Amino acid sequence: MAYSSLLLSLFCLFCLLLPSSISSRPAVKDPEMVAQEVVRQINSTRRNLEFLSCGTGNPIDDCWRCDPNWEKNRQRLADCAIGFGKEAVGGRDGQIYVVTDSGNDDPVTPKPGTLRYAVIQDEPLWIIFESDMMIQLEEELIMNSYKTLDGRGANVHIAGGPCITIQNITNIIIHGLHIHDCKQGGNTNVRDSPRHYGFRTLSDGDGVSIFGASHIWVDHCSLSNCRDGLIDAINGSTAITLSNNYMSHHDEVMLLGHSDSYTKDKDMQVTIAFNHFGEGLVQRMPRCRHGYFHVVNNDYTHWQKYAIGGSASPTINSQGNRFLAPNDKKIKEVTKHEDAPESEWKNWNWRSEGDLMLNGAFFTTSGTLSGSYAKAASFSARPSSIVGSITISAGVLNCTKGSPC
Ligand SMILES: *[C@@H]1O[C@H](CO)[C@@H](O)[C@H](O)[C@H]1NC(C)=O
Ligand SMILES: *[C@@H]1O[C@H](CO)[C@@H](O)[C@H](O)[C@H]1NC(C)=O
Ligand SMILES: *[C@@H]1O[C@H](CO)[C@@H](O)[C@H](O)[C@H]1NC(C)=O
Ligand SMILES: *[C@@H]1O[C@H](CO)[C@@H](O)[C@H](O)[C@H]1NC(C)=O
Repeated sequence: MAYSSLLLSLFCLFCLLLPSSISSRPAVKDPEMVAQEVVRQINSTRRNLEFLSCGTGNPIDDCWRCDPNWEKNRQRLADCAIGFGKEAVGGRDGQIYVVTDSGNDDPVTPKPGTLRYAVIQDEPLWIIFESDMMIQLEEELIMNSYKTLDGRGANVHIAGGPCITIQNITNIIIHGLHIHDCKQGGNTNVRDSPRHYGFRTLSDGDGVSIFGASHIWVDHCSLSNCRDGLIDAINGSTAITLSNNYMSHHDEVMLLGHSDSYTKDKDMQVTIAFNHFGEGLVQRMPRCRHGYFHVVNNDYTHWQKYAIGGSASPTINSQGNRFLAPNDKKIKEVTKHEDAPESEWKNWNWRSEGDLMLNGAFFTTSGTLSGSYAKAASFSARPSSIVGSITISAGVLNCTKGSPC
């Protein structure tokens, strides 16, 4: 019995691998295969990276933070991601580009030295900042593929104007930026590559807007107070990890999937790990549709409506989180099943495994408890008892050249 089912699963491994290796398009892959690949790669890279481990218990940070020469080895960070966005290489294989000019944002003809000039280029770039900067953009910052924004070593704020747009592209890493007070832009032309600019309609005013994009990793950012979402991922986006971020002072925090009728999002896979959802947050941490969501080892200390919710039958695998409910008796529930009667949502797969529930917090599970979570599992959760210590430095780190961050 065990032998034949092993054979069967090996066989299926091949029948699933073949078509995807023949196809040359970076199409959305089968979610179950993606989950298996992610775990395999984590297992093999973990071994190579152990030499730097300084035992914070946070597997991403342990991969690079203890290196006093982080400044000389910046691109190694790209190998430290875990979860569904793990393959995002960003600008790992390109040159370092130093942003020297925080002003003069020209959306159509950006000047060399500005952030916008760097992000529109076609070649991979690892983008860093010469000094502390406040960058107030005139329009959305429309990124091109294979870029990393690395704020380590400088205090960089993208704030007070439109913020970051990741649209129809792949392989983006955003690390160590303060992103806040983001506004709408649009009704004007904006450049998205050296060869092309186009007319943009009004944008939502998100901190980070991910649209039709894949292989995205947002790590150690501090986000607050934007017009729409802090990080929204919609319209067929997948292979995303949102980790180690500190979010605060915001209503609708994360929207993952924009419409119940947009069924292309049924293959979406997002890992949300080691984040601190902090003061002044209201709801949507995240709000999910259709796809597979691994919500793991996050610290939830504030919500005013609910923490995790969704509609259109998303699969939500909540593991090893710490949920501290507000004092108000009416809002102890972590979850919110939206826009459907109970007869329908009782079939959605939402589970809570090893979560720590404090101050009366409770999670309304639904669906089956059986194997249907394979596609929503991206690495093994740490015990919820250590969530406080592994999220203690969520948000932007204060890194100084020559010493560990
Ligand atoms: C990854 O490693 C864990 C623990 O060492 C092991 O249980 C698991 O089977 C491995 N998974 C894969 C896909 O290699
Ligand atoms: C992305 O694709 C959509 C169509 O799905 C298009 O409307 C939009 O302009 C594209 N954005 C960019 C920046 O190319
Ligand atoms: C999303 O992408 C599809 C292509 O898959 C496009 O036709 C549609 O207009 C987009 N939706 C939105 C809301 O822009
Ligand atoms: C960062 O650390 C340095 C040295 O440890 C300290 O002088 C500085 O004030 C810190 N900056 C912030 C923004 O915390």
